[in-house]
Parts: sequence; structure tokens; C-alpha cells
Amino acid sequence: MRVFLAGHTGMVGSAVLRRLISDGGNDIITATRAELDLRDQTAVKAFIKVRRPDLIILAAAKVGGILANHKMPAAFIHDNLMIADNVIHAAHDADVQRIIQLGSSCIYPRDTPQPIAESALLTGPLEPTNEPYAIAKIAAIKLCEGYNRQYGRDYRSLMPTNLYGPGDNFHPQHAHVLPNLLDRFHRAAQSGDENVTIWGSGTPQREFLHVDDLADAIMFLSALPTTQYEAATSPMCSHLNVGTGKEISIMDLATMIARITGFQGQILTDTSKPDGTPRKRLDISALTALGWSARTGLRDGLSQTYAWYREQRAAGHRLRAS
Ligand SMILES: NC(=O)c1ccc[n+]([C@@H]2O[C@H](COP(=O)([O-])OP(=O)(O)OC[C@H]3O[C@@H](n4cnc5c(N)ncnc54)[C@H](OP(=O)(O)O)[C@@H]3O)[C@@H](O)[C@H]2O)c1
Repeated sequence: MRVFLAGHTGMVGSAVLRRLISDGGNDIITATRAELDLRDQTAVKAFIKVRRPDLIILAAAKVGGILANHKMPAAFIHDNLMIADNVIHAAHDADVQRIIQLGSSCIYPRDTPQPIAESALLTGPLEPTNEPYAIAKIAAIKLCEGYNRQYGRDYRSLMPTNLYGPGDNFHPQHAHVLPNLLDRFHRAAQSGDENVTIWGSGTPQREFLHVDDLADAIMFLSALPTTQYEAATSPMCSHLNVGTGKEISIMDLATMIARITGFQGQILTDTSKPDGTPRKRLDISALTALGWSARTGLRDGLSQTYAWYREQRAAGHRLRAS
């Protein structure tokens, strides 16, 4: 298969690239942002027309935490709308029959019953802090549905839960909770600090998926015949959740990370800081019924990620911090 992997330098894209290489047998097409800015409609159209992939895996997006979303709402909606529209429309134009494109659990309403089923989409107001990003991601799902319904395309959307693993962002302000804790506990362990304070009460429950498991789900779903995928979804709800179905409290996560990093001190909470939503677990029954489930346990995944983090630091590599 000729596979165009868009966003191959990112956390998800590099996991998919590792997987495609280890599977072998595929003709893998990639382009850096300098070679192909996916916001450039003319360039994207020409690139896809010339390369003619059989499958596009769209892992490129403008991604960031609360602060970045707050500072750059225009960029978050504009870039993500352009990337999705350019790639999906150009794929259709070049007669590319299958796309796997990635969204995120932030597409769902802020206050929604748990676990969150795919059908919860557009049933209530979104979390305001990342609404522009979520709107662009919802538009991408609807673009796929439009081309599927109007032209019989097979454009699929996957909504992963919180991800972690090699290639994550460890920025002190911009990182997601798991890499942020890993970095902070590592530093505290190295300098023998007596305590580490975590934001909020530590009681919120979260779900975490190792990025290599997401790559596995992407490969599993990209090989699934159209009829089977369609039977698991519906024309008006063509996206699938990808998660582990397991939750952990932030305090338990912090305790696990403290052990892995060798931190011996106390874990304190700062209840003046917001907790966020108390639970956020995806309903993964549709994907489970198709026969896929995540393989990496959280403890093993964290140990592996921590080993990668230490290797990068030891080798003097700059950890991503955008
Ligand atoms: N990270 C998570 O926890 C998480 C959770 C759920 C879903 N997802 C979804 O997974 C997807 C990938 O996320 P990620 O965490 O892998 O993001 P990431 O690490 O920031 O990678 C994003 C990729 O997109 C590329 N890109 C961004 N803008 C581009 C443009 N204008 N033209 C060309 N390439 C561009 C980046 O290239 P550069 O290297 O040049 O910047 C990079 O390769 C996103 O759709 C996200 O919503 C992520």
C-alpha cells in the first residue's frame, strides 16, 4: 500500500511511522511542514494528486494545552480547519478512497454522561477552553461523513483519549498532566526535594492510552473492510472512540510516577487550583466489539516512557517543549 502519513514528526505520527516501518511492505510517503504546509490548499492538492496514496493517515494538527489554546484561538481553529479541509478534499479529488483522520475526546460536550459514547457528539456545550480546536475537529468528522455520504468514500475518524509515550511534550506550562508529572517528579527525585505539589485535589479520574497502542488501533482499523467499519458506526456518526476503558485518579497516577522516578518525598495537593471535570472516560464498546483492545498496561507504559525521557536527556536531546 502507498500510505501518506501526514504529521509524521509528531507524537502520534512518529508512533505510526515506527509501526509502519516495523510492519514492512508499505510504501510510506511523508513530508515535513517545510516541504508541505498542509494549510496551503494548492500545494496539498498537487502533492496528493502526484503521490496518489491508497491510504492517508492524518495525524497532523495544531495541538496544544489550555494556555496555548487560550492565547491562540484563531490559529487553533484556522490551522485545523485548513489542514482537514485541504487534505480531505484533495484526497477525494485524487480518488483516494480511504482516510484515517484523528480527532480528540474534546469534541464531546463538557458535561456528558460517562463513559462518553460516540453518540454524545453535538448534544451539549463544549468545554470553553478548547472550543475553537474542538469545533475544527468536529468539522473534520463532518467533512468525512459528507464525502462518505455524497461520494461513497471511506473516510474514518478516530477519537483517542489522553495519549502518552515517546515524543510527548514536556513543557512546564504547556504539557498535558502525565508528561508534566513525569518531568516534575523526575526533577524532584534528582534534587532530593521533600515534596511535590499537584494541582487540585487529586481526585479527578482520567484515562490514558499509550501512543503505540493508538498506532496499533490505527493499523487495525485501516485494514478493516468498509462493511465492517460501517456496521460498527453509522452514516451520521462515523467516528470511533479509542481508549483503554480504564481510569486512574490523578493522585494514584502521581503515586505511580513517584515510584517509577524514584521520588521518596511527600505528594501534596493544592486545592486552590481547579480540578477540571471529575471524570472523562470514553465508551470504547464499539471498538472492543470489532476485536481491538489496548495492550500496554499503564505501569509498563509509564516505565517505558520514563526510560525514553531519560535517554533523551542523557543524550542531550532537546525534549519537545512547544
Ligand atoms: N497528544 C494527545 O494527547 C492527543 C490526544 C488525543 C488526540 N490527539 C490527536 O492526535 C493528532 C496528533 O497529535 P500529536 O499529539 O501527535 O500532535 P503533535 O505531536 O503536535 O504533532 C502534530 C504534527 O502535525 C504537524 N503539523 C502541524 N501543523 C502543520 C502544518 N500546517 N503543515 C504540516 N504539518 C503540520 C506537525 O509538524 P511539525 O513537527 O512541523 O510541527 C507534527 O508533525 C491530533 O489530531 C490530535 O488531536 C492527540
